[in-house]
Amino acid sequence: MAEKNELMQEYIWIGIIIAMLTTFLVILGYVSEAKGFDTPSSAVTCDVRQVRKGEILTPGVKEVAPGIYEVNLKARMWAWIPNSIEVVNPKKIIFKVTSEDVVHGFQIVGTPVNFMVFPGYIAEIQWEVPEDFEGTYLFVCNEYCGLGHDTMWGQLIIKRE
Ligand code: CUA
Repeated sequence: MAEKNELMQEYIWIGIIIAMLTTFLVILGYVSEAKGFDTPSSAVTCDVRQVRKGEILTPGVKEVAPGIYEVNLKARMWAWIPNSIEVVNPKKIIFKVTSEDVVHGFQIVGTPVNFMVFPGYIAEIQWEVPEDFEGTYLFVCNEYCGLGHDTMWGQLIIKRE
């Protein structure tokens, strides 16, 4: 009798585990399909050859709306192009970054901006710039990319008027 009881408990626990896994998978499926959440692997892709030729993602800074800046950046062993970015009274900066060669990492020191840059992909990150951010910020490559890795840096200048 005791054995039968234990077997019953086994089945109950197996049932609970299956129910938990099913719930988890249903939530995951709902979030990814219905809500459109994706893994970074499905980010915007691009042709590295076109990037090298400068046919896509022309590097530069432009103000697309008052206080909204779009920054196109190219990573290359061992430089950021451009390596100096200047914005005035920014509310939001939209970074679009890609690599011409290997994997790099874009990090603006002292800010939450920190992401990886892959060849063949355009990383797009938006940063809502808090009002107290002003001055010169160092940005670096934080992904080892070869001999000149430590020389791969630039500056973001935030001006307030
Ligand atoms: Cu680029 Cu390290």
